[in-house]
Amino acid sequence: MPENILVAVAWPYANAEIHVGNLTGSYLPADIFARYHRLKGNRVLMVSGSDAHGTPITVRADEEGTTPEEIYKRYHHKFLELFQKVGLTYDLFTTTHTENHFKVSQLIFLALKDNGYLYTEKSLQWYSPTLGRFLPDRYVEGTCYICGYEHARGDQCDNCGNLLDATKLINPRSKIDGSVPILKETEHFYLDLGKLQDDIVAFLEARKDYWRPNVVRQSLGQILAEGLHGRPITRDLEWGIPVPLEGWEHKSLYVWFEAVIGYLSAPIEWSNLTGNPDAWQEWWFNEQTKSFYFIGKDNIPFHAVIWPGQLIGAGDAFARRLLGEEQGKGKRLVLPYDVPANEFMNLEGRKISGSRNWAVWANDFLTRYDPDPLRYYLTVNMPETRDTDWDWEDFLRRNNGELVATWGNLAHRVLSFTHKNWNGRVPQPAELRPVDKEILAVVEKAFEEVGESIEKVQLRAAISKAMKAASEANKYLERTSPWLEIKTDKQAAATTMYTALQVVNALKVLFAPFLPHTSERLHRMLGYEKPLFGSQATEKVEDTLGEHTVLRYLPEGGTGKWHPERLEPGREFAKPKPLFKRLAPSIVEEERARLG
Ligand code: MF3
Ligand code: ZN
Repeated sequence: MPENILVAVAWPYANAEIHVGNLTGSYLPADIFARYHRLKGNRVLMVSGSDAHGTPITVRADEEGTTPEEIYKRYHHKFLELFQKVGLTYDLFTTTHTENHFKVSQLIFLALKDNGYLYTEKSLQWYSPTLGRFLPDRYVEGTCYICGYEHARGDQCDNCGNLLDATKLINPRSKIDGSVPILKETEHFYLDLGKLQDDIVAFLEARKDYWRPNVVRQSLGQILAEGLHGRPITRDLEWGIPVPLEGWEHKSLYVWFEAVIGYLSAPIEWSNLTGNPDAWQEWWFNEQTKSFYFIGKDNIPFHAVIWPGQLIGAGDAFARRLLGEEQGKGKRLVLPYDVPANEFMNLEGRKISGSRNWAVWANDFLTRYDPDPLRYYLTVNMPETRDTDWDWEDFLRRNNGELVATWGNLAHRVLSFTHKNWNGRVPQPAELRPVDKEILAVVEKAFEEVGESIEKVQLRAAISKAMKAASEANKYLERTSPWLEIKTDKQAAATTMYTALQVVNALKVLFAPFLPHTSERLHRMLGYEKPLFGSQATEKVEDTLGEHTVLRYLPEGGTGKWHPERLEPGREFAKPKPLFKRLAPSIVEEERARLG
């Protein structure tokens, strides 16, 4: 029975370009996982989009003297370009600035309200008399009341590192025009997490044995230590989703409250685009669905605690509001199955910093290198259990020593030797010898082991098992030495190369979730016409908010299956070209010179 798998991927803030740390943190592992499950025959839905609202976007717009809309669209388009090049197969990559997302977010808000999980509270907030509006905390600067630093931001002091209560800043100034703000009363909605605590704890208890320890610590561990308290989920900000209540239209839903709702709204938009508007329900109202949330460790509380709280609190009120009482009754939204959050990737021993240009920018990288070496290096170095480091020398070594020398070399020498000596056809073997059966068994077993690791989202272990199988195959060639066999016993050499081709053909699939571009090329060289995977396309969508462009994975035409397939003797294949390029040692210094 195929499983329904929801691959929920962190929504990048549309205010900066994506670097290798972002890719390895969440977007790439999600794609590897999704591709594997598609090959397995499961029903995969992988969604995300640009996180377009909130102060991250307005700050950027203010700095540049432009509009939030212009900012989010600019970065959104760069994401679309990058994700196509890297081959990130989102079934839908959209944005939070769509009519559909507005509506779904507002319905979740109202469902929570229906069920008594929202309350309002008044508080004091900085207000700018010159601008006539409230100022978000990070728009106010002043003297830190803890350390005395004069340029502390309202939300945090960069000198002592403490999170601040903005209303206590000494000598406050507006960062927008330097004027002096005043404290003014405002009212906001709060999510009553205290009331949801028991249910959230029960949810986490049921998962704690298979979740990553760091995720359990930052969710269940923290709740048990500190308890849960109400959190404001509205803001005095124009750029965002209006609070759907009379008199509240000028306040917005807090960006973190609504962005996570994208995991629900994007499947709905996807369903509409595919012409099967109810399809999303097979994931979201199905208790058997396994939903995996691919995020970085800084996002853990929002996905492992608050988002489940939103889903539990909405209960079936969301479905009842959307589908009507009758249809919606009893339909509850499925809770996260796993939240395999990654740690961070550093760069050459230091924390990645976009503003200091201490970063490897993914779009820029791809102007000089191919996508699969990037995917490879980011997978073998994925920060699954601890922070890791991008090191250019290590990148060079991995590319030349593993991709080129092990896997690339295996594929190339098998195809070229066979092509040359058997006229571009798969040779007819004699009866297979123990040595042949042995290597075929190694590969067969690798499918099990690699698959098992991917299902546990242990992708580093998975790719190293795949590479191990490739090096076993190289050893097989050393042992059988077909280049000697062919001189004395051409039939023995034919048996060897028949076997070796089966192995290469299988490894192509084993590597496909990780290295889809080169696997597809190899697949074509081996004479297949239909690709392993479907294709990607962008599409413009119009709604009442204007127009937005989405990226879609179209599964049609993809024929890959997660098991070795036999290449028939006599089958024609192409003269091979190398899969990977050997890189010159000089790139290390060149690339290091670009940093900072
Ligand atoms: N924009 C956030 C970040 O890049 C992630 C948001 S994930 C979401 O850290 F689900 F909340 F959108
Ligand atoms: Zn301070």
